[in-house]
Amino acid sequence: MGFIVALDGPAGSGKGTVTKKVAEKLNLVNIDTGAMYRCVALDCLNKNIDSTEIEKIKEVLENIEIELKNQNGNQVVLLNGKDVTKEIRTTEVDSCVAKFAAIKEVRDRVTPLQRKMGEKNDIIMEGRDIGTVVFPNANIKIFLDCSVEERARRRYKQNIEKGIQTTYEEVLTLIKERNELETKREIAPLKKTDDAIYIDSTNMTIEEVTEKIVKEIEKVR
Ligand code: DC
Repeated sequence: MGFIVALDGPAGSGKGTVTKKVAEKLNLVNIDTGAMYRCVALDCLNKNIDSTEIEKIKEVLENIEIELKNQNGNQVVLLNGKDVTKEIRTTEVDSCVAKFAAIKEVRDRVTPLQRKMGEKNDIIMEGRDIGTVVFPNANIKIFLDCSVEERARRRYKQNIEKGIQTTYEEVLTLIKERNELETKREIAPLKKTDDAIYIDSTNMTIEEVTEKIVKEIEKVR
């Protein structure tokens, strides 16, 4: 096994950006596991399969090939050999991925792929269940939290910048719903373990969070 940093936290906590920056500073391979659940959702969407059609989903899982490649610090996502790095970020995928990620068969297929990625490289892996399920023996675990209001503010700002018309209240409602789904689901819910370092990013800049995580990793590496 390589050196493993497990980073969990809710959407909008700044996980993605911070993981990339920490990886650059410490020469770690950064892995965004949400991309893998997005691949499953996209493959099913393309085949008109709904998240309730378990038998059809099982068939998809038997044949699915998901590959995460690191190109100059950026993660490139291949689904059945095709580059879907952008396609997995559409609102269609956004709105159904949590339902696919809550399915046991989906997680059973994806988790071993994630474990394999830690075999040869020193990695920082971000997701929801990395410290609890994927790498319970990680060298260091970080739980990056943020208030729902601040997460909604960040998402609302991004939407405005992208020209997406929403109100802050709508975004807040969606974030709260997603939070419920992710923290209350039966399998691999988002949860801080006792041995994880807790960081609340609500009133911190990306740089401050990056700095704090780099320092914590340097203490044990
Ligand atoms: O981080 P993200 O928004 O790209 O994640 C996409 C979905 O996958 C989201 O519903 C949470 C889920 N997910 C998960 O259940 N476990 C992980 N390790 C990573 C993501």
